[in-house]
Amino acid sequence: MESTIQNPNILSIRKVIPEDLILLRNISIQTFLETYGWYNTEENLALYFSNDLSEETLKGQIDSIETDYFFVLKDDVPIGFIKIGLKNNPIQKWKEKELEIERIYILNEFQGFGAGKFLLEYSESIAQTKGITQIWLGVWEKNLKAQEFYFRKGFTQIGEHDFWLGKDQQRDFILVKSIE
Ligand SMILES: CC(C)(COP(=O)(O)OP(=O)(O)OC[C@H]1O[C@@H](n2cnc3c(N)ncnc32)[C@H](O)[C@@H]1OP(=O)(O)O)[C@@H](O)C(=O)NCCC(=O)NCCS
Repeated sequence: MESTIQNPNILSIRKVIPEDLILLRNISIQTFLETYGWYNTEENLALYFSNDLSEETLKGQIDSIETDYFFVLKDDVPIGFIKIGLKNNPIQKWKEKELEIERIYILNEFQGFGAGKFLLEYSESIAQTKGITQIWLGVWEKNLKAQEFYFRKGFTQIGEHDFWLGKDQQRDFILVKSIE
């Protein structure tokens, strides 16, 4: 699989490597705060950053063969990333392999000019090369902006499931997209 691709509009994509750990963590935390900081308590944010976004956790994910991170770069500077993995959605009894978009984060100031779409299309091309016909993701019920983005890109909702953000139980909508 190509680890670097380019489109004509100054955006490019490359695989995240172990040396990118701190940069990946910084973009993760900044985008998380920009998107969800208004809703969550300081305590729950701190728990999330020290567990789910700890250097150790992210390092394990970068090294894992089950997960791939890709940066999207503008003028060669990372402005966001996608995290994908081979995992089936929790709603359907889907027998074939599925690709999960585990995270897709674009820094606030770079949103709205195609970087998210570029990463999404890249993940779809990866799925297609693996013979996978459905991708899925969970999106927080209050994240209307991301939901608009996904619906516009052909996703439909098939259910919901709960998760914990620190000590707060929250709800994701589960969305799928056929890429046959
Ligand atoms: C959601 C997110 C990934 C979208 O990426 P983006 O780079 O801002 O979106 P793009 O510029 O690629 O937009 C792609 C398409 O979606 C549309 N779109 C994007 N945001 C939209 C919105 N809020 N409302 C309606 N349409 C929207 C664009 O108009 C565009 O449509 P087109 O291809 O038909 O022209 C990005 O905003 C983000 O990272 N948000 C913060 C983190 C987050 O919420 N991640 C998702 C967690 S599940």
